[in-house]
Amino acid sequence: MKTKKEITILAIETSCDDTGITIVKTGENGSFKVLSNIISSQVEIHKKWGGVYPALAKREHQKNLVPVLIDSLRKSRLSKIKNSKSKKKDYSFKFKDLEKILEREKELQKRITSFFKKYQKPDIDLIAVTNGPGLEPCLWTGVNFAKTLSYFWDLPIISVNHVKAHIFVNMLQNGKIKKLIKRDFPAICLIVSGGHTLLFLMKGFGKYEILGETRDDAAGECFDKTARILGLGYPGGPEISKRAAEFFGKPKIKLPRPMINTKDYDFSFSGLKTAVLYDNLKKVRKDKKYIQEMCKEIQQSIIDVLARKTINAAINRKAKSIILGGGVVANKELRKQFTERVKKLVPKAKLFIPKPENCTDNALMVAIAGYFKYKGGKKEKWKKIKVDANLKIE
Ligand code: KG4
Ligand code: ZN
Repeated sequence: MKTKKEITILAIETSCDDTGITIVKTGENGSFKVLSNIISSQVEIHKKWGGVYPALAKREHQKNLVPVLIDSLRKSRLSKIKNSKSKKKDYSFKFKDLEKILEREKELQKRITSFFKKYQKPDIDLIAVTNGPGLEPCLWTGVNFAKTLSYFWDLPIISVNHVKAHIFVNMLQNGKIKKLIKRDFPAICLIVSGGHTLLFLMKGFGKYEILGETRDDAAGECFDKTARILGLGYPGGPEISKRAAEFFGKPKIKLPRPMINTKDYDFSFSGLKTAVLYDNLKKVRKDKKYIQEMCKEIQQSIIDVLARKTINAAINRKAKSIILGGGVVANKELRKQFTERVKKLVPKAKLFIPKPENCTDNALMVAIAGYFKYKGGKKEKWKKIKVDANLKIE
């Protein structure tokens, strides 16, 4: 039996090319048990394009969501197949409405209809879903899927900002949710992923001030594009990181550190990409050693710029903590150097870095951010939830 304070959350993430569903059981004293956390990656499909192709990603989300849901319920031991009794009290009147909600998601409509015919309502109390920022077609598939579950199972729904989710994942520590407290604020937050490079000040819950962002490519995008120039696989971050670790010593290749000395907190990474392209064109022989050396210099250039701006912001805004998030934070060298530099330059600031597997897109972070929003008393109607590809943090 669940007490009133225990709620089970089903969270959905489809803002880019990962189809993620997580089920968590929250309890008293911040207990936060992850029953399942599944990510179906589309990397293989997008590899040949060297990046994510939105229409293709949407199609894959439509195909993946129901199998991932079945898998999540099964892993969480919440899956219940209908028997002859439960079939009688069916929601058949609701099936007609599904056609409307999933008007633009025909493939998903087909799959979810058979799912509802076969499975009973599971013991879930809340649906959380990413509604932006991200790729609009992909976001809609996840949101329409969440709306369908909310309507069909009569469950409350919470929309989640993807950037905030990357931050809030830091609040999960050793199976418990630790709320940030007064002495952690103000916090400097850096989100670096394939789609974002954003530096902002968090003065408290719901109190954000954007300090800077990229003027062109995101840091992860720079990893992906330079990897492509060097003939490496996608996503570029892990490929570059792996080769950089194989190069010992200081690289002789010198790449720029774009905007490192500017007083603002903006970033620019397209010049770095161009510098890699020119150097690569100049070289007749591109042996393994050259690739390793170049990877090390690319990685270092990105780390230098990110660390300098973040630490400057922390010093200037008297931050009590520094919070990192996003796929690029999975980078081993970045984690190490941020830890060292923060310790040396802003020793009083507490540094939050998520586990590597929680840096890249996942639905666990959506569950955590959704939990905070729900606990904060936020109520939403499924009919009213909309997607915003450029959703800002407010
Ligand atoms: O957060 P994420 O999964 O998706 C977005 O919200 O964009 O981030 C994906 C990005 C990709 O650009 C990928 O190359 C980068 O994160 N990334 C890395 C590493 N792992 C993933 N970048 C550097 N080093 C890594 N180990
Ligand atoms: Zn992300």
